[in-house]
Amino acid sequence: MQVIGIDIGFGFTKIISGSNYLMFKSVIGDALEVQFKDQFVAAQDQESFFQVDLNGRSYFVGSIAEQQSSTRHYTMDQERFVAKFAQPLALAALARMANGADPIKIVTGLPIRYLQKQKKIMRKLLSGRHTLLCTDQNESEREVILDIDDVRVIPQPFGSVFGLLLNDHGGGADTRLLKQKVGVIDIGFCTTDYTISDRTRYIERGSATSEMGIAKAFRRIADELNDKCRVDIELFRLYEAVHHGSIRIFGKSIDITELTNNAFQSLAADIANEIQELWADEWDLDSVLITGGGGAVLAPYLESLLAGEINAIGGNDDARLNNVLGYWRYGKNQWDRTSANSSDS
Ligand SMILES: Nc1ncnc2c1ncn2[C@@H]1O[C@H](COP(=O)(O)OP(=O)(O)OP(=O)(O)O)[C@@H](O)[C@H]1O
Ligand SMILES: [Mg+2]
Repeated sequence: MQVIGIDIGFGFTKIISGSNYLMFKSVIGDALEVQFKDQFVAAQDQESFFQVDLNGRSYFVGSIAEQQSSTRHYTMDQERFVAKFAQPLALAALARMANGADPIKIVTGLPIRYLQKQKKIMRKLLSGRHTLLCTDQNESEREVILDIDDVRVIPQPFGSVFGLLLNDHGGGADTRLLKQKVGVIDIGFCTTDYTISDRTRYIERGSATSEMGIAKAFRRIADELNDKCRVDIELFRLYEAVHHGSIRIFGKSIDITELTNNAFQSLAADIANEIQELWADEWDLDSVLITGGGGAVLAPYLESLLAGEINAIGGNDDARLNNVLGYWRYGKNQWDRTSANSSDS
């Protein structure tokens, strides 16, 4: 049995099994048949070269799709995301991560608003036996058979709660969460999820999904760049520019630090307003946790706008992995315990 955590986010797909992890942009594209394939493939490192054949289609996945596919697909619509993207992204990641033919048990998540509606669909898309053909950069092909015999789907921000609560063996870690009522804000690329963990129990009141993801700030930056330079920039191409504070368009470097600052400040203010409304009755929260890749970016802007004890999870680690780490630890906790109990009896 292999336990694997997978977080299929609008921005990035993240997968963890033990100490191995992998993360790539949630972009898929049609794999190319081009004559200069050797040259462009040589420029890619093995990690970022990702080609899989699945259900009769050949896909590039992640950064190679962004750079090379002429038809690229990404979406910001949840229904379409689950219907068209979740399976190829998850199976491509699993094909890299799975170790041999052992049956696989998966923990994954959905935004809170879609949990009830899409839980069954997600289970169905991932469960069962899947055959993929993976091509590496040297064009050698490898058939991978994935035998997925169990899929658990939990509210996405609870991944971060389990990540703190459990250790790598699925046992107890941060015992404060066992006693406290904690608000969790998970800021992702497209969505922000709010939830409450009351002594680790999920509280429906005070839990919601909003569209206040980092993409909202990126949209504002892209619109202003469009006004200035007349280019339509796909949002997922802005990560590096925002990180470096500048973007090169038609050979000219444009400083976007102020633009980014304003966009993040305004997004943080919108999120703080939503929280004030949603958690108006939750004045007894012991603390608030900020998580998700967008959480790491927005925490400095949010901290001064929120009341009470605020903790950004992740420290120096990559906060995009907070949820998926918890998915995997939760899986270890659930299934290792079950198999230990059944071998005892
Ligand atoms: N090293 C990094 N590279 C790229 N983005 C980063 C990095 N560190 C933090 N980020 C931020 O992380 C965000 C993505 O976070 P995360 O992976 O949690 O989102 P997601 O789960 O894919 O999206 P959603 O929850 O909306 O489905 C990006 O929008 C970016 O602002
Ligand atoms: Mg997310």
